[in-house]
Amino acid sequence: MSANRSRIVLLISGRGSNMEAFIHAVNAGSLDAEIAGVIANRPDALGIETAAAHGLHTDIVDHKQYPHREAFDTELAMTVQTLEPDLVVLAGFMRILSPVFVEPFAGRLLNIHPSLLPKYPGLNTHQRAIDNGDTEAGATVHYVTTELDGGPAILQARVPIVAGDSAESLAQRILPLEHQIYPAAAQLHISGKLRLVDGRCALGHELLPDGGLLWPLNTDNDQALRDLRESS
Ligand code: GAR
Repeated sequence: MSANRSRIVLLISGRGSNMEAFIHAVNAGSLDAEIAGVIANRPDALGIETAAAHGLHTDIVDHKQYPHREAFDTELAMTVQTLEPDLVVLAGFMRILSPVFVEPFAGRLLNIHPSLLPKYPGLNTHQRAIDNGDTEAGATVHYVTTELDGGPAILQARVPIVAGDSAESLAQRILPLEHQIYPAAAQLHISGKLRLVDGRCALGHELLPDGGLLWPLNTDNDQALRDLRESS
């Protein structure tokens, strides 16, 4: 453990491809942090095997073992606290978190959601965008508040919806963008430039627009992340 690198704890429920994007960004030197641990709420989450194969600390806090949401959230918060995180990253974490969990980590808790928030909080986001006749879909990284998928947006990636698109084809086009914007948003936070101030995102002295910043920040994403790190 190094004394001065920010510590990230990732929470997952399944495949963990966004978690892998964090591992890649840390290894590539574009995310100036160390991964303190990966925690899953499901014993069968595939991403836990991947994390362990990368030599990362892993924990399971199985929500089925707790009588109610607050009991699970209390145990989860304690498990996360043990890892002394500077930033907690929900990476495909498919449990609604109560204030018992959210409040202790307010301002250092991020989520990625597969829609252009504030559109389509909740599930089946891509299908809902198609069914509504939207011309664009995407993903948003945001600070987590006690409102479901409602916290202020940091970064958003957009793709056009084209004729013949299905929820699956949209997900396939959007997921690689999720893997870019999520570590980039984390780097903005870790650099100290980005903060949650009075319920709004502030980048330096500027308040971000409602949808957050639009991706790409730069045509070369790894370079953009290095630039952000070096200018911090
Ligand atoms: C991602 O598409 C993420 O945006 C979404 O789940 C997927 C997880 O994939 N998250 C949500 O829907 C949260 N409400 P991953 O496990 O491969 O990172």
